[in-house]
Amino acid sequence: MIDIHSHILPFMDDGAADYDAALGMAQDALNDGISTVVATPHHANGVYMNPAGEIEESVRVLNAKLQEAGNPLLVLPGQEIRIYGDLLDDLERGQLLSLAGSRYILLEMPSSRVPRSMEETCHELIIQGYVPVIAHPERNAEVAEDPSRLVRLIELGALGQLTAQSVAGTFGSKLQKLSLELCRRQAVHIIASDAHDQLHRPFGLSEAYGVVKRELGSDAFDFFQQNSRKIITNEEVIRANPVQSYNKRHRLFGIFSRKG
Ligand SMILES: [Fe+2]
Repeated sequence: MIDIHSHILPFMDDGAADYDAALGMAQDALNDGISTVVATPHHANGVYMNPAGEIEESVRVLNAKLQEAGNPLLVLPGQEIRIYGDLLDDLERGQLLSLAGSRYILLEMPSSRVPRSMEETCHELIIQGYVPVIAHPERNAEVAEDPSRLVRLIELGALGQLTAQSVAGTFGSKLQKLSLELCRRQAVHIIASDAHDQLHRPFGLSEAYGVVKRELGSDAFDFFQQNSRKIITNEEVIRANPVQSYNKRHRLFGIFSRKG
């Protein structure tokens, strides 16, 4: 499996505390069936600043340590970028990183609201050839209240990334229900761990995919697995239009309908 969102790099943010912790997380990732992890430290979220160069250097060091430890996990550079005023300027200045050098760029909204500038920022990024990937929209209060807030961004060309623990039910049944609802609405396209540590915020991708397979069927499982791979290989992600048009085409038995 491929994981496109993690906080495995040490000394960057609220993820791995040091190299031992990072190597421990890497072992967990491997045990979970993950072969490649994109490291996405927080950037410009009001607490952490992690410009591109520092992340790339840290990825280089961690990969060397993994090799030394005999762990075949591959770590690729990325960044979880909070929506902020200078985002587009900083992108031009080379301070921001897309996911594994692809056209896909991981964006974080504040958890309480969808920023007013969100649509405009997504639009600008798309014009420049990027594809915004919205991190954990299910954990945003306004999206939870009204999922059409997310659908609007998806219609503009953005993608949605669910957190594995939301899907697995670790964050509670309400968040799990919402996550599956966003899957059925085809408002999300990727599942990623957002792993921060080994204990409270672990990788747990296989558990989430198990839920997807059970609740949504094996086509949905394939859809999410393929999309994570397409992100790191910079291929076109599989999109599906939001649910109405999809259901019409598939007579209510689309890939996201409940099995049975
Ligand atoms: Fe994150």
